[in-house]
Amino acid sequence: MDISKDIELRIVGIGSVGASIVQAFAQSGFTVYGIDIDHQNIVNGLKRIERDLDNLVLKEKMDGKEKEGILSRIKLGTELDSIRNADVIIEAIYENMDAKKDMFNTIDTLVTSREALLLTNTSSLSVSEIASATNRPEQVSGMHFFNPVPVMKLVEVVRGALTSDSTIDRIKDLALLMGKTPILSADRPGFIVNRMLNALFVEAARIVEEGVGTVEDVDIGAKLGCGHPMGPFELFDYLDALPLLEHITDYMAEELGERFRLPAWVKKLVEEGKAGKGIKKFYG
Ligand code: CAA
Repeated sequence: MDISKDIELRIVGIGSVGASIVQAFAQSGFTVYGIDIDHQNIVNGLKRIERDLDNLVLKEKMDGKEKEGILSRIKLGTELDSIRNADVIIEAIYENMDAKKDMFNTIDTLVTSREALLLTNTSSLSVSEIASATNRPEQVSGMHFFNPVPVMKLVEVVRGALTSDSTIDRIKDLALLMGKTPILSADRPGFIVNRMLNALFVEAARIVEEGVGTVEDVDIGAKLGCGHPMGPFELFDYLDALPLLEHITDYMAEELGERFRLPAWVKKLVEEGKAGKGIKKFYG
């Protein structure tokens, strides 16, 4: 199966990232079917996509007709069975190994085409272990997107232990057809980008903990001194995913060393339910 904009494409898991992946594919001309077993996620996902597109219309980046064209290429539903005739499935459910393995086992059972690509948007977990839940590990790989997906130009392609060259080539083709640049990562925790980014997050939090600088000044330093579009704390808030960050950094600390462990003050924010948007409110 060659990659083209006519492939049968399914995104499984319509949380904030899944919805953003659906939007990015539709904006680049693909017809895409997003599936989530929770109807509320479908409702929220569609709202999020419509809001993003409305903003683009308001900013005169697109007109109403273009917006309607994009929406007409998006189908959302709760029926996992609709992945049966898919060519490419991208899983974007929450970051939990058991849940991902269960999902891949189901996907493997349902999808009929032996050529189909079974991809995970995991941001840190082992692709090889996820692939072990299927009978076709050579067609399983990571395809990792970055927030906001319609804007960020990168896709990390993660090669599992048994991923075939043809699978890697086809994912690269898919990324290029979306107007994105693929990079290839080995299957190690955090891959290339989150390994760098989480090191930055952890060090920024340590700088505050040691009283070297304030949250505000760390952010200004990253923007004006390093040319980053956002400071690390601003990015914490933007991603609105502090519990996920804690989960990922704990996993990376176990796999790669304590240098990835978030300092106690950030962990306390997560425990107190103050995570998500607002780190600057508490420590700014
Ligand atoms: N959908 C479509 N287009 C969008 C959009 C969206 N959700 N959000 C922004 N845009 C567009 C805007 O229309 C604008 O387009 P033009 O350049 O054509 O004008 C462009 O993106 C820039 O947006 P804004 O002008 O509104 O705002 P900005 O210049 O401040 O940029 C940003 C916003 C792109 C988010 C920028 O601040 C940025 O790059 N921040 C860093 C993001 C980042 O690091 N992401 C990676 C996070 S890590 C991750 O995702 C991996 C993981 O596993 C968790």
